[in-house]
Amino acid sequence: MHYQWYPGHMSKAKRQIQDELKLVDVIVELVDARIPISSKNPDINKLAGNKPRVLLLNKADLADDVRTKEYKAYFEKQGYRVLPINAKGGTGVKNVLGVIKEACKEKRERDLKKGIIGRPLRAMILGIPNVGKSTFINAFAGKNCTLTGNKPGVTKGKQWIRLNKELELLDTPGILWPKFEDQGVGLRIAWIGSINEDILDIRELAVTLLEYLYTDYPGIIEKKYGVEEIADGNEALERIARKRACLKKGGEADIDRAAGFIMDDFRTGKIGRITLERGGFDEC
Ligand code: G4P
Repeated sequence: MHYQWYPGHMSKAKRQIQDELKLVDVIVELVDARIPISSKNPDINKLAGNKPRVLLLNKADLADDVRTKEYKAYFEKQGYRVLPINAKGGTGVKNVLGVIKEACKEKRERDLKKGIIGRPLRAMILGIPNVGKSTFINAFAGKNCTLTGNKPGVTKGKQWIRLNKELELLDTPGILWPKFEDQGVGLRIAWIGSINEDILDIRELAVTLLEYLYTDYPGIIEKKYGVEEIADGNEALERIARKRACLKKGGEADIDRAAGFIMDDFRTGKIGRITLERGGFDEC
């Protein structure tokens, strides 16, 4: 399967991030809790330097709780403050401010010693497309926030969101992509629906997802669709199509239609709360 990426935009985004990182105290990075490794931009580590970092495992409502806990511990070991959240439903969002303040504790103490009192903390929000940044900012900042004007040294037109007297947010300057050269990452990003459907083969997506679920979540497909599970994804897809009477004229299984509803069911959490990867990379 071929995935379409835009590396040109990425180097520009990286440069912007590098410039604007100088203006913030803390990096708040969002990933999709269903693919916390694959939805993490691999360059942020290098860009971040020594800034304190908060990692939000968003869409935790769709992810497997057990693995979310494992990933929380995994990233904490790497020095992140980690919080699973559901930006859409609001769960966990009210705890984010406390975690950001905690992450910046040393910085605030240093400020105090220098006599700097009452300056709001500044956070940069980062994440690859579709992880839920806009949803999070809306839920986090809500109606209480005000957009503030340009700041010295910030690209003209860039807006800071003043959450309250304690915190200002800077949305991602530009677009970041995941580790696009890795086809496994591309596939997982496609499963969760973050790649334009037009360029994807929905049948292949469903077949590979069914094969993944067969190995990693045995029993879940049988429970949802009432079919006996089988390792071969094509056969599994056909069985589900027939079971659901998803047929073309003449009685042939309508594979593409079945693939479509399986992907929809998965993405909306109707198959269950599922995390699509295990373990991690050495460098995240
Ligand atoms: P972005 O700015 O990072 O690109 O992402 P955005 O906020 O636009 O969110 C992408 C999609 O993910 C949206 O769905 C949004 O509702 C959904 N979403 C964000 N956070 C969560 C979460 O914690 N849990 C769940 N289940 N979904 C979340 P959409 O279908 O594109 O829009 P909508 O129909 O939901 O408005």
